[in-house]
Amino acid sequence: MAREQDSPELGAAVRALVAPLAATEAGPVLLCLQKVQEHFGYVPDGAVAVIADVCNITRADVHGVFSYYSDLKQAPGPAVPVRICAAEACQAVGARALAKAWREQCEGDPQLAQDTGVDEPVYCLGNCALGPAALVNGELVGRADVPALVGAVAAVRSGESS
Ligand code: FES
Repeated sequence: MAREQDSPELGAAVRALVAPLAATEAGPVLLCLQKVQEHFGYVPDGAVAVIADVCNITRADVHGVFSYYSDLKQAPGPAVPVRICAAEACQAVGARALAKAWREQCEGDPQLAQDTGVDEPVYCLGNCALGPAALVNGELVGRADVPALVGAVAAVRSGESS
């Protein structure tokens, strides 16, 4: 993993983002990681070391939090992420079949696959009554099917809200 001194600009940017949190919040590591991801779209190499330094804890402690939460990413995600709920209530109304159909749709459309990352499962979106549920670029899609997902992705691509 890169260190802060490997990229002084990155280190300074991360430090500016997280220092106010470290100064005002108790147990700020997760907040710092979320802030960095919100800014960069992921947690770049070197950020863990800076957060550890600012929070006065070990890199291992920061890395432990970072690696625990799957929503914290080490690399930029797809342009229009699609996440289909894989939890029980949605499985009961066809989420597995939807995920399979979505993968097949992406196999036939490489640009769609590239733009969406195909699918990263998510476990309950709090929309169980309208399952199968999905997120397209962070926006909830209820009673999702492939046409609805394709339409939501197209809306995001064209600059409309999904
Ligand atoms: S189980 Fe899918 S939204 Fe709750």
